[in-house]
Amino acid sequence: MKLTIENITKTFKDKSALNDINLELTTGVYGILGANGSGKTTLMRILASVMKPSSGRVLMNGQDIADMNEKYRELIGYLPQHVGYYKNFSAEKFLKYIAALKGLPKEETSEKVEEVIELVGLTEYRSKKIGGFSGGMKRRVGIAQALLNNPKILIVDEPTAGLDPKERIRFRNLLSKISTNRIVLLSTHIVSDIEFIAKEVLILKDGQLVKKETPQSLLKGIEDKVWTLVIEEKEIPRFQSEYKVGNIARVEDRFQLRILSDEQPEPNAENDIPNLEDLYLYYFDEEETA
Ligand SMILES: Nc1ncnc2c1ncn2[C@@H]1O[C@H](COP(=O)(O)OP(=O)(O)OP(=O)(O)O)[C@@H](O)[C@H]1O
Ligand SMILES: [Mg+2]
Repeated sequence: MKLTIENITKTFKDKSALNDINLELTTGVYGILGANGSGKTTLMRILASVMKPSSGRVLMNGQDIADMNEKYRELIGYLPQHVGYYKNFSAEKFLKYIAALKGLPKEETSEKVEEVIELVGLTEYRSKKIGGFSGGMKRRVGIAQALLNNPKILIVDEPTAGLDPKERIRFRNLLSKISTNRIVLLSTHIVSDIEFIAKEVLILKDGQLVKKETPQSLLKGIEDKVWTLVIEEKEIPRFQSEYKVGNIARVEDRFQLRILSDEQPEPNAENDIPNLEDLYLYYFDEEETA
């Protein structure tokens, strides 16, 4: 299975949201990382075929998805960034309702709904109203609805936003479990979400694809750019204005700064092992250094 994205550009009036994106996706989990407004949702909506690109095309196994039309939609499961749930519906009733909207054959519905409820771990709560669910449980209902048609391509837009760490881990593991034989695209601001499950990370910046690499190789790319340095408190502002500064930790009466820089910021700064948070800072934290 291969999804090819060719020269995709999207412009809203005079605002360019995506600029000449070229990509090839095969089965596995892809993490899309990018600051607010970098084009994540726009790219996902185009791939989910709920929005058309201004130019360029998307091919599924060599066939233009614009020509495939319904045939392509049948392959898609999509969890939008913002979803409204019917608070007074139970999880089961909601999923049956969505199954009907998606045109699932009636005789298959009960079995399928049961299957997805089981998969996302909501069996116990199936007849409880969604209005009383936690954020993580609602998100699981969202994934369940996206899985009803057994999609080959699953697109989930910021599924972990607002979840507590435990719910996030659970959600990650769920995505990992269902990624066999599927293309899974997941966008997030939280780098730890994709560190372990993504086979590749796509970094979007101002509508451009700036990186497409494995998490490991992305980290390798900033290997010599992460520094730690212990300084006096009064020196902190100077470093913050000159460098991208991450964590600041108190060490007795001084402060240890984590700095992202191509060059050694001070002779006594030491290199440290990069993590994905450093990566995010390296690529996206521009406001503070501009
Ligand atoms: N329907 C629209 N009309 C006009 N501009 C839009 C529309 N949708 C998106 N944009 C603009 O396109 C750019 C990319 O938006 P998009 O929603 O894809 O970003 P994002 O990476 O998903 O951001 P976030 O992290 O906040 O969800 C932004 O500048 C946004 O304002
Ligand atoms: Mg978005």
